[in-house]
Amino acid sequence: MRPTVRSPTASSSSNPPDVAHGSSGAPSQTAHATRLVTVPPAPDEAADVFGDQVSRAERYAYRLSTDGVERGLLGPREIDRLWERHLLNCAAVASEVPSAAEVLDIGSGAGLPGVPLALVRPDLTVTLVEPLLRRATFLAEVCQELDRPGIDVRRARAEELPLAAAQVVVARAVAPLERLVRWTLPRLAPGGRLVAMKGRNAEQEIVAARPALDRLGAASAEVRDLVLPTGRRATRAVVVIAGEGRPHR
Ligand SMILES: C[S@@+](CC[C@H](N)C(=O)[O-])C[C@H]1O[C@@H](n2cnc3c(N)ncnc32)[C@H](O)[C@@H]1O
Repeated sequence: MRPTVRSPTASSSSNPPDVAHGSSGAPSQTAHATRLVTVPPAPDEAADVFGDQVSRAERYAYRLSTDGVERGLLGPREIDRLWERHLLNCAAVASEVPSAAEVLDIGSGAGLPGVPLALVRPDLTVTLVEPLLRRATFLAEVCQELDRPGIDVRRARAEELPLAAAQVVVARAVAPLERLVRWTLPRLAPGGRLVAMKGRNAEQEIVAARPALDRLGAASAEVRDLVLPTGRRATRAVVVIAGEGRPHR
């Protein structure tokens, strides 16, 4: 039977109950506002992936499971697969990001993939870019709570960002590759990269995006496995490298 834990008030609580921090054992339930919320425990792999940042990852998982669901940023059915599908898959983006890079997470939503990426890679500077006020507010709260230097929030649409300036753009579930390329490739500095998390249809998305890739001067676009620090292949992404002297429209 799952333990039931009473937490302080819901959205006002800044401290998850201790049981929600445990990295083993059964999922815990916590009274969040008027509902019981299941907070999944971190799997063993999380400690290997996040290392000394695992307690921050657990705090983030708690925020997603409670405020994130309550405020409509994450579907309640995602809670059971929170670690595997969200935190760990997103942490695997790190395998395609060069060291000490400045990263823009476009359409960050509730902080995915940017927050797990920032936790797994302390060398990166990560900006969570999100146009919707409700989501940007949640992200600002998460950043403040996690207190990880080098992660911040910018409320903006991708199309509003400066041209030819970004080193690395990451994105998950924001738009089809063709549109994502139109929005982001002009924002990349020469040699910069877009890492777009894509699943089964990644190859077809490259085909559909080919005219935009060519018109915007992409040097390459290929499907890559995203690999966790544990060596496990977690998911896939399309990696686009920006060419030199590209048109910006
Ligand atoms: C389906 S959600 C995905 C959120 C998150 N990346 C994830 O994987 O959970 C898509 C997000 O893209 C944002 N978005 C939509 N159009 C955008 C644009 N033009 N520029 C930046 N973000 C955009 C939405 O506000 C929303 O938060």
